Amino acid sequence: MERPDAREMLYEGKAKQVFATDDPERVIVRYKDDATAFNAQKRGTVAGKGEVNNAVTALLYPELEDFGVPTHFLARLSEREQLVRRVRIVPVEVIVRNRAAGTFASRYGVAEGRPLDPTVIEFCLKSDALGDPPMNAATAVALGHASEEELETLFDLAAEVNDYLLARFAVAGLDLVDFKLEFGVTGDGELVLADEISPDTCRLWDAETGEKLDKDRFRRDLGGVEEAYHEVRRRLEATVGAALDLPEHDDADHEHHDHEHHDHLHAHREGEEPHDA
Ligand code: TMP
Ligand code: ASP
Repeated sequence: MERPDAREMLYEGKAKQVFATDDPERVIVRYKDDATAFNAQKRGTVAGKGEVNNAVTALLYPELEDFGVPTHFLARLSEREQLVRRVRIVPVEVIVRNRAAGTFASRYGVAEGRPLDPTVIEFCLKSDALGDPPMNAATAVALGHASEEELETLFDLAAEVNDYLLARFAVAGLDLVDFKLEFGVTGDGELVLADEISPDTCRLWDAETGEKLDKDRFRRDLGGVEEAYHEVRRRLEATVGAALDLPEHDDADHEHHDHEHHDHLHAHREGEEPHDA
């Protein structure tokens, strides 16, 4: 793809900048080395992080597209930049947890690493000022952050992403403990996976040793942050095209996101978060 010129900066977040292009439907995302944690109360830089997160996202998003998950990703442009579809970000962070860790472990008083069955999918309000508070579906709808239908699609897509990523990271010798997704709505009204998937937004433990290979090394001052990020990239790149142990799935569901099976998804959501926050 011919490299579009970056025009004015539209937005600067904690870890990325977004630039306009001459095409109103496309923007350039530039990944920074800046790192924050605990809703930006802790700040620092991780040398080379922007390059790793750009590369890891640019590797995984096309694979997720092939798996049937629509994304904003179009092309990697350079070491730090990628071209994506312009979207309006839905202010609902979707957290997927295969094992207890982080705020889940502390909130419920359980040990980090405890497997969660079923997988827990949480919604949080995207607001650093408020500390990204968890919210259930009714809260998100009542506050006007998403429609009921959008939340169902977010839930389904997050579960699909998890099915793929669990197998994809496993083949790279990594245990996917939890991760955060963000979605956006394109100019045509399509809901797509946006933002990034990287060691900033996932907890990844070495499958053999349990060593943390993600942003917890920065959050918890464990040292070896840069090495961990590079190791995740190296392992993913070394396993491109490897056979994955994916769960059986119905292709029709992936292609059309039909809502037939929502009754049991509702049951999960309501079972997890029965009361309004
Ligand atoms: P938590 O344990 O702090 O709730 O985080 C769960 C997962 O979501 C973990 O992999 C880190 C990721 N995450 C982000 O990427 N950004 C955020 O703002 C938050 C709150 C979590
Ligand atoms: N990304 C969030 C922050 O910058 C939360 C985190 O990753 O710990 O504070």
